[in-house]
Amino acid sequence: MKTLKVWFLVLSTFFALNTFAQGVMDSGDDKYQPRVGQEGKDVVWVPTTNELLAIMLRTAKVNSTDLVYDLGSGDGRIAIAAAKDFGARAIGIEFNPEMAQLAQRNVDRSGVSDRVKIINGDIFVEDFSKATVVTMYLLPELNLALRPTILKMKPGTRVTSHAFNMGDWDADVEIDSPARAYYWVVPAQVQGEWLISGMETDRTILKLSQFYQKIGGTLQIGNNTQPLLNPKLEGAVLSFTYLDRDKSSHFVMMSVENNELKGKYKSRSYNDNVITGKRF
Ligand SMILES: C[S@@+](CC[C@H](N)C(=O)[O-])C[C@H]1O[C@@H](n2cnc3c(N)ncnc32)[C@H](O)[C@@H]1O
Repeated sequence: MKTLKVWFLVLSTFFALNTFAQGVMDSGDDKYQPRVGQEGKDVVWVPTTNELLAIMLRTAKVNSTDLVYDLGSGDGRIAIAAAKDFGARAIGIEFNPEMAQLAQRNVDRSGVSDRVKIINGDIFVEDFSKATVVTMYLLPELNLALRPTILKMKPGTRVTSHAFNMGDWDADVEIDSPARAYYWVVPAQVQGEWLISGMETDRTILKLSQFYQKIGGTLQIGNNTQPLLNPKLEGAVLSFTYLDRDKSSHFVMMSVENNELKGKYKSRSYNDNVITGKRF
């Protein structure tokens, strides 16, 4: 209990200093004036600066095809910017009813009510699985509590968090200025053995190991097994290079769809050949 209190004090101080350093002012209207640092259900309210939220949304390549969910949306600024400046649809989830109402009024005043909605609810109860982009400014342990849900989202879903990371799931991008933020792409689950068709006439087996988005593995063509060169996994897209028996290199790119691999590789004659993979 004592540790929890100390942890809360440290974080409140961090939030306050961070806010001060970023020059954030309290915001509100004639109906409700929230106070920076005021208690929330699981975390206090501190707004992300407009400068940082623009960088976070740009890093996540937010565009008009996206549905952005801001988890713990405060005065609604991230959802509003996602719609107004990036053309996306956005939903903010905010537990505090007065804050949620203020955010909805801010949405209406900003002229984006057709694309932005504020839900007065709990981020641990509401369903945000349809998001293509998730934004948050929470706490380390809340990020960790949400991590299993986020990792089950559609591969390729982009996630950005102000200030706090996701434990041992390393970020794809770290933003340092004007404040710390992180960016991840939800990786597909590719670990295991795949039987590949279309690559060579011989039996081809792809063995993959995986730690979040980091992958390694081997490609076995007939009796020849070799490590994958420069293997990468971004969302559902898997790529690597391999050397054939004449030591010429081939680039392979496949995507994971419904637990199958589909893609192409450049053959010896430099044609694009279609390949598929099924799990063993
Ligand atoms: C640090 S503020 C971030 C606000 C906004 N996302 C931003 O970056 O400007 C966190 C917000 O989460 C809200 N909150 C806390 N616990 C919550 C929960 N379980 N569900 C929904 N909102 C929550 C707080 O009321 C507060 O407005």
